[in-house]
Amino acid sequence: MAKQNIYDDEEFFSDFRKNRDDSLNFNDCIETPILLSMLPPVQGKKVLDIGCGMGQHAKQYADMGAESVLGIDISEKMIAYAKEHNGADNIRYLRLAMEDIKTVQERFDLITSSLVFDYIEDFGGLMKQIHGLLEDGGKFVFSMSHPMTTAWDGVYDRFTRTETGERLYANIRNYFVEGPRKVNWVVDGYECYHRTMSSLINALISAGFVIEECRESQISDEMRLRYPQKFGGTIHRPDFVFFRCGTGSL
Ligand SMILES: C[S@@+](CC[C@H](N)C(=O)[O-])C[C@H]1O[C@@H](n2cnc3c(N)ncnc32)[C@H](O)[C@@H]1O
Repeated sequence: MAKQNIYDDEEFFSDFRKNRDDSLNFNDCIETPILLSMLPPVQGKKVLDIGCGMGQHAKQYADMGAESVLGIDISEKMIAYAKEHNGADNIRYLRLAMEDIKTVQERFDLITSSLVFDYIEDFGGLMKQIHGLLEDGGKFVFSMSHPMTTAWDGVYDRFTRTETGERLYANIRNYFVEGPRKVNWVVDGYECYHRTMSSLINALISAGFVIEECRESQISDEMRLRYPQKFGGTIHRPDFVFFRCGTGSL
């Protein structure tokens, strides 16, 4: 699968925005609180956010006192939205595919990425390039879809359910078959890559990173029980996986 720029598709972008604007979206309720809790101090740091989307995270880092933030994204629509709605004097947004990240000539104290590496074909190669963009002692904190979530091919329900629709357990298929998966998410033919957990970990190690923390997404019992339609499945498997890595040199 070549570089996919589905976020510039009119229908996909508009549905993604609607989803992001919903106050019960998975990003704000699950992903962002965990990612933010794993960050090192951001004050005075040079930050790169890969796949910055609409710029919410970049703005958060600027508000947390970052010296500068560079947000890159393949999507023209995302970059335009970020510039309009999440700008600040010390934030730059650049339309750039992560596959072309070697063109970035700066070094950073902190590199982040939220839910973007699902789209990279050469995960190991990207991890090596990211390692090279960090200052010694820099940190790399990112989230992506959990391998248990991407081990799905879209032809069956993600969950086996009772007759009344309650989720009994998660369905996982071909976990050990790595590569692109075409599923129906927002639009038909959405593509992302599935990799096993050990592949992710070994790619980080091969790139020279020291893994300092790994988390798997959960939501509080209170939220899960209050919104069972939305979050009922989160008890059965994690939607996202998170890593905080150091450069391995100081
Ligand atoms: C699920 S969204 C996440 C956006 C943002 N990080 C957030 O948390 O709201 C995925 C983002 O990755 C971007 N993206 C997808 N493929 C990319 C690529 N090859 N290079 C750079 N960005 C990419 C999309 O345009 C989109 O903005």
